[in-house]
Amino acid sequence: MKIVWITLLCLLFVVSQADQGFDVRQHLSTVTRYSASKDVAQNLIEPSNVPSECTPIHLNLVARHGTRSPTKKRLRELENLAGRLKELVRDAKADKVPGWLGQWVSPWKGKVKGGELIRQGEDELYHLGIRVRERFPTLFEEDYHPDVYTIRATQIPRASASAVAFGMGLFSEKGDLGPGRNRAFAVTSENRASDTKLRFFECCQNYKSYRKAKEPALDKLKEPVLNKITASVAKRYDLKFTKQDISSLWFLCKQEASLLNVTNQSCELFTPSEVALLEWTDDLEVFILKGYGNSLNYKMGFPLLEDVLHSMEEAIKAREENLPRGSYEKARLRFAHAETIVPFSCLLGLFLDGSEFDKIQKEKPLELPPQPPKSRDFKGSTMAPFAGNNMLVLYSCPADSSPKYFVQVLHNEHPIAVPGCGGKDFCPLEDFKAKVVTPHLKHAFDNLCNAKLDDPTSSKSSSPWSWLFGSSHKAEL
Ligand SMILES: *[C@@H]1O[C@H](CO)[C@@H](O)[C@H](O)[C@H]1NC(C)=O
Ligand SMILES: *[C@@H]1O[C@H](CO)[C@@H](O)[C@H](O)[C@H]1NC(C)=O
Repeated sequence: MKIVWITLLCLLFVVSQADQGFDVRQHLSTVTRYSASKDVAQNLIEPSNVPSECTPIHLNLVARHGTRSPTKKRLRELENLAGRLKELVRDAKADKVPGWLGQWVSPWKGKVKGGELIRQGEDELYHLGIRVRERFPTLFEEDYHPDVYTIRATQIPRASASAVAFGMGLFSEKGDLGPGRNRAFAVTSENRASDTKLRFFECCQNYKSYRKAKEPALDKLKEPVLNKITASVAKRYDLKFTKQDISSLWFLCKQEASLLNVTNQSCELFTPSEVALLEWTDDLEVFILKGYGNSLNYKMGFPLLEDVLHSMEEAIKAREENLPRGSYEKARLRFAHAETIVPFSCLLGLFLDGSEFDKIQKEKPLELPPQPPKSRDFKGSTMAPFAGNNMLVLYSCPADSSPKYFVQVLHNEHPIAVPGCGGKDFCPLEDFKAKVVTPHLKHAFDNLCNAKLDDPTSSKSSSPWSWLFGSSHKAEL
């Protein structure tokens, strides 16, 4: 008996210890803030020793926009939730119901427009700009010219506003404008209907059909988890929550914890293990619709990878031809969406172990990320938090060394294992080209995206004519 008790006590101790270390702000999938995600130990590796004779000569950045407010549709969902909660509390026994629940009003009540970059999001990108300049001083010592520092954003305002916030940090104190001595700089965008580098997901008809066809299956996949959590939360508070209520409350938890830094309200309705499961269902969606769950998800992003490589080759050419300073590009900075950055990370093979990387190279599908408590590498909170980013830094090493050019890959500013580079963050450009870029070369964007799918099983589920009748216009993240 005594032993049983001791074991039980130990267990309780372990559980409460685990809960104490649990911070819901790090488990919000793609709603996670950059500051909550950036320094989480997951996937961090020892940085390679970049030889001191090697200098960075060009930088590519692909970043997601910063923290943004909920979209209009979601704002309405929250207003409806307020009505639902009142209804539920009215018919309930008061003793189990958390005090805030009956009087809750949406903090965004009355707000009619949504989706914009909020102040915290500006702050994330502004400071990222400052850190990038401090980390690579030789890249950013030149006077601003739009061809030397190319800044591109999608046509979506939260992405272009993110580019502006970043640029304000990057070029602060370099100009004459106002007390911050700001500089004006250019941000250019492609038309959203033809932006194959940053909004390929919108230009790719086959992808749009795939996503629409996949939604019912995805809901089925999440359903058992949502059912189970609905039942246990309903029982815990003696309230007749529906699945929709729980889904809205999880959405509310993510917004409160991320945008308002409030974790003691809706998030407290869920236990840490329930949060972990809800986070997993969100990550499944990221995996299936944006990540390794379907090769089209990332193969369609090849024009972006090609653009990255091309910019490096141009930088090398300028160097070898000894072009004068100020006549060639030193950084190409891009601001886009989770739908851009997740596929881009997949093209680089990030967050895969060696055997998974082999499967991807042979274009075999990967298994779904395992359900908690099992751990997984594929996490929305790490891959694409607000302001999440990948940087590819091109280094030039002394003329007598061979190879001469190297690429370093940073994810959220940390060195990250690139399976194509032998699990290192730093490898010769030639290896990077051969093992990371070239395997994707065989797919032309047009073939992949606009040709009729040759795989009969995937075209069955979505009519080849579905694009004629409009495809799903899910708001992007
Ligand atoms: C969020 O709240 C925590 C306390 O729970 C505090 O330590 C932290 O500084 C806050 N973060 C922000 C960004 O306000
Ligand atoms: C949450 O914490 C804040 C600050 O500590 C406090 O003012 C607020 O009343 C708490 N809310 C709930 C619902 O416990």
